[in-house]
Amino acid sequence: MNRERIESLYYKTYNYNTENIEIFYGDMGDSSSLNRIIRKCKPDEIYNLAAQSHVGVSFKIPEYTCDVVGLGVVRILDALKDFTIKTKFYQASSSEMFGNSSNQIQNEVTPFLPSSPYGCAKAFAYYMTRVYREAYNMFACNGILFNHESPRRGENFVTRKITLSLARIKLGLQEKLFLGNLDAKRDWGYAKDYVEAMWLILQNDKADDFVIATNETHTVREFAEKAAKLLDFDIEWQGEGINEKGIDSNTGKIIIEVIPKFYRPLDVNFLLGDSSKAKKELNWHPKVNFNELIEIMVNADLENVKKINYMKSFNE
Ligand code: GDD
Repeated sequence: MNRERIESLYYKTYNYNTENIEIFYGDMGDSSSLNRIIRKCKPDEIYNLAAQSHVGVSFKIPEYTCDVVGLGVVRILDALKDFTIKTKFYQASSSEMFGNSSNQIQNEVTPFLPSSPYGCAKAFAYYMTRVYREAYNMFACNGILFNHESPRRGENFVTRKITLSLARIKLGLQEKLFLGNLDAKRDWGYAKDYVEAMWLILQNDKADDFVIATNETHTVREFAEKAAKLLDFDIEWQGEGINEKGIDSNTGKIIIEVIPKFYRPLDVNFLLGDSSKAKKELNWHPKVNFNELIEIMVNADLENVKKINYMKSFNE
């Protein structure tokens, strides 16, 4: 089981013997385990963040993605429907549901036009959450979250891939960073701010759906340039499309290359969220901006790489 990202939390609690955290085995593809956990824990609130969450990978494993991301939500909702305890349910819906439906700012009434198996499965789960809310009077809510990042981000998502690779290049452990579509635009926020929004959504008086975003959009190219700058690289772009390269003008070395492998069969080109409803009704405001987010991630990865490198040389 993969629980690397909560390990520190778990050990801290375990060592202090406060017994605040108990971990259960469950699987989004297995109704009986979900039912058993719900009956045993009698939860006040459930936050469903479980997913095969990589959009590119969803083209390679579409059936599995639809099962855990889409049907998995029905498995939880249906277990809650017949349960005596009134559990509040938060569904991690995604801006990927908008797909390429709009080149304008997106809010709670923007139509969905998903562009990936992942986006389709998330749209299905979104609608099922609404159906269960209305049909069975359940406190079931969707947070439509735009991209949210942190040093804990998986290494195959673009922001983390950039910060980790550039830190490795800086320390001489890697030569180049290989990327796909540099012109995709995303509304990137800080995961910690977004987790607060999730909690606020379930503390609201009524069950509802909210867009959570920073209201700013930037290209992948811009993210890479700014991350590079923080590490004293100065990127100059040469060429176009799959021939485009990022050259560090200080050394003349190519440190970024575009390769077809990282292009998706269909990509979402433009995401920009309008979270004014969350601001007004939940009093939610993002605290960390785009530049600060990049700085947090670059600094964390520089430290990570230094530590790993130090441990490696120590073992050799
Ligand atoms: N992963 C990745 N790797 N993406 C790349 C690369 C690369 O080498 N090069 C360019 N990109 C582009 C992708 O094509 C996409 O347009 C953009 O960078 C962002 O990709 P990801 O970081 O993989 O995130 P995402 O936007 O597809 O999805 C994330 O955000 C969603 C919310 O909108 C995921 O966290 C989803 O689970 C989440 O729902």
